[in-house]
Parts: sequence; structure tokens; C-alpha cells
Amino acid sequence: MTAQIISGTEMARTIRTALADEAAQLKADGVEPGLAVILVGDDPASHSYVKGKQKACAEVGIRSFLYTFPAAIDEETLLAKIRELNVDPAVHGILVQLPLPDHICEWSVIETIAPEKDVDGFHPINVGKMMIGQRAFLPCTPHGILVMVQSAGIDIAGKHVVVVGRSNIVGKPVGQLFLREHATVTYTHSKTPDLAAITRQADILIVAVGKARLIGPEHIKPGAVVIDVGVNRLENGKLCGDVDFDAVKEVAGYMTPVPGGVGPMTITMLLHNTIEAARQLAAK
Ligand code: GUN
Repeated sequence: MTAQIISGTEMARTIRTALADEAAQLKADGVEPGLAVILVGDDPASHSYVKGKQKACAEVGIRSFLYTFPAAIDEETLLAKIRELNVDPAVHGILVQLPLPDHICEWSVIETIAPEKDVDGFHPINVGKMMIGQRAFLPCTPHGILVMVQSAGIDIAGKHVVVVGRSNIVGKPVGQLFLREHATVTYTHSKTPDLAAITRQADILIVAVGKARLIGPEHIKPGAVVIDVGVNRLENGKLCGDVDFDAVKEVAGYMTPVPGGVGPMTITMLLHNTIEAARQLAAK
């Protein structure tokens, strides 16, 4: 058996075409959706992610405003910028690229973003609403994964979803989103003994740890859906996921590639949230 590939690039293209129509309609109604992106320091990966987000905004008709700060910026200056953007009517979404330098408290930054402009879905208000099933901005990577699985026509209710990784950005919330869709969810992480014994029970396996090729064919139940969130740079400069793609595709039923899998869907959900924020703020 060779797994069917779930192309995030193709799904993202389709969804972004619809989002461009929505952005154009909002603009015709006098509201041009705007996203403010704050980038601190000079981490090359963060710069590259932010560039991708800005390019995607331009393609669907969202204005983006980039604010870059040196790594040595003090926390209060950063918080003051966020407070200014919170009341800027041209800005509907605010994104602070993570990680931040160690001397800045990530929680203070996230909690300063107005929840109605928190298009990352990281503010505790949005996290809490997501947990209890209220309307909220959903975090972009988990939401992108959910849409990919649903769009591939895979039933979720009653399935065993195993999540590898427990980050606040991906692991924890993705489990919650699949629980909302009536999956049975198991979380695993670096302290889980005999990881393979648990991942082999997964109908849907979601891997988000950032370790190149951690997951091999011995971790996979034949026919399983395997979602690879990892983006790791190898010594030869190539990107690879947390899953050993070539070996696992002989066992899995469905797989996402890296690159071209979850990444483009993450950005697409950011665009979706920004347009939704613009719509909601305009209706106030
Ligand atoms: N760093 C890695 N992923 C993300 C994300 O989804 N949002 C932000 N703001 N920073 C990140």
C-alpha cells in the first residue's frame, strides 16, 4: 500500500481563492482587512515565516503592516506598540511572531493583544472559549490540520487520534479540536514510555515535536492518517518533517508532505481569522 498524499498546497489554493473574494467584498463595503505583524530579533526561520505570511496577505487582498524590533527591545516598548495597535482601526488582526527573546515574557505579550484582534488564537480568552466550544479564533495550525483531515473526506467521530507533542501552539489545542469533533484523543510527549505502542493504536496520528524523522513505519497502524507538523532543516539544507516520509508512506493510508502539507494551511487559517476579525470589528 502507498499512502494517499494530502496536499496542503492544493487545499490552501482553493480556500485562498474564496478568501480573496471575501476580502474584496469587505473592501467594497469600505473595510480593508489589515494584519499587523510584529517580529523581534533576527531568527532566520521567523523572518522566513513572516515573509510567507505577508506574501499570502498580499495575494488575497489583506493589508499587512510589519513592525520589526531588535532582539534587545525592552518588554514595555513592545507592549506599548501592541496597545497602540489594539486601538488602530486599520488593524483587525495582530500577530507577534514567536519565539521571543528570553527577557520578554511571552504571556505578558499574548495577554496584551486584544482578544478580538488575536488572530493567532493564543490569548487565554480564545483558548478557553475554544476548550468549551464557544465561538473563538482558533489557533491556525490546529485549525489547518482539522480542515485538511475533513477536506480529505476522513471521518473523525469515534476515531482514535494520537497527538505526539504538547506545545501550546499545536499539540494541546489540536487534541482539543479533534475532541470537539468526537474523536478519542491520547496525548503523548517526550516522557511517554514506549511511544510506538501508543502511536500504533492511532487511526489519526498528529506529530508536532520538531525532531527530524522521529516517527518511522514501526509507529504506524496500517492505513492510518499521518499528519506531520514538523519542519526541520537537515545538514544538507533540505527541509524534512518529524515523520520518515519515504518509509511511512508504505504503511499509512493518508499522509501530509513536508514541505507542502500543514504549513500552507496554517497561513490560510491566519488569513481566514484576519478576514473574520475585520468582519466582526466592522459590524461593531
Ligand atoms: N511561531 C511558530 N508558529 C507560530 C504561530 O502560529 N504564530 C506565531 N505568532 N508564532 C509562531
